[in-house]
Amino acid sequence: MKRIMCIMVLACFVAYGTAAAAEKKSTAKPKQIEAAVSGLSANHPEIPQGVSCNDCHEVKLDAKTTATQAWLQGPYLKYAAGQGVMPQDQIRAEIVKIMLGKKQKRTCVLGTSLNNVPLTTTADFVLDPDTMTLYGLHEKGTTKLLHIKQNPKVSLNWHEEFKTWGTVLCAQFIGTAELIEGSNPEAEKILVDIYPYEELAKNMKIEPQQAREMIKKGMLISKITCNQITVNNSAFEKDGMRKYQRWERPAK
Ligand code: HEC
Repeated sequence: MKRIMCIMVLACFVAYGTAAAAEKKSTAKPKQIEAAVSGLSANHPEIPQGVSCNDCHEVKLDAKTTATQAWLQGPYLKYAAGQGVMPQDQIRAEIVKIMLGKKQKRTCVLGTSLNNVPLTTTADFVLDPDTMTLYGLHEKGTTKLLHIKQNPKVSLNWHEEFKTWGTVLCAQFIGTAELIEGSNPEAEKILVDIYPYEELAKNMKIEPQQAREMIKKGMLISKITCNQITVNNSAFEKDGMRKYQRWERPAK
C-alpha cells in the first residue's frame, strides 16, 4: 500500500513538474524570491535534484543590503557612507598592479558552472590592462572548457597566500569567457603582445616562433572579459581608503 502511495505521489509530482515546465514557458514564473530566503514552508513543491531555486523563481539579489555592499559603500567601521571609496580609474590601476599586467601571469582559481553544479580549476592568467581582459592557455578537452562552451559566465579569484593576521590581498573577477582557437588570427596577437608564452620556449629550448605554433596547435586560449572586479587589500587602509574596492566595466 505504502509503495502504491509512493508511486502515486511520484506520478503526481512528475505531472506537476511537466505542468510547471509548460507553465514556465507560457506564463510568469512563481513569485520572485530574495536570495537571502532560508527555509521553505512544508507545502513547498518538492525540488528535484539538479534543479535550483532560479529554475522556477526569479531570485532577487538585494545589492543594497548585502554585507559586501555595506563594506564597499555603506557606513562601515570608521567610514561614513560613500567615504573611502576609490574613483574607478584609481581602483583600475590598483588591479593592474595586483595582477602585474602584460607578459606576467598570476595563478588563479577559475570557477565555472554547468547544470547548477560549480567547478573550480587552477590556471594561470594574464591581465591586459588596456581592455581589462584576462587570458589563459589551456589543454584542449578539459571539463572547464566544456563548461565555458555551455555557460560562458565565469568567476575567478587570485589570492595572496596567508602571511599574518590583518594583511589580506585578493581580487575576485566576474566575467564572460570565450574560447579562442589557434587558427584564429587573434591567438597569434594575444601570444605576441600579452601572454608570456616565451617562458615555454625558454623551458623547452625552442625558438619563440616554434613555441607559438606548438601552442596554437595543441591548446586553446580563454579570453575573459571582466565585468566586475572586487579587491580586498588591507594596504589601502594606510591611505584612508576602504580595503574593499570594486571596479565595474562602464556600460557601453
Ligand atoms: C520546481 C519549481 C520550483 C523550484 C525549483 C523552487 N520553487 Fe519555490 N515555489 C514554487 C512554487 C510553484 C511555489 C508556490 C507559488 C508561489 O508562491 O510562487 C513556490 C513558493 C515558494 C516560496 C513561498 C512559499 C513557500 O512555499 O515557502 C518560497 C519562499 C520559495 N518558493 C522559495 C524557494 C527556494 C529558496 C527555492 C530553492 C531552494 C525554491 N523555492 C525552488 C516552485 C519552485
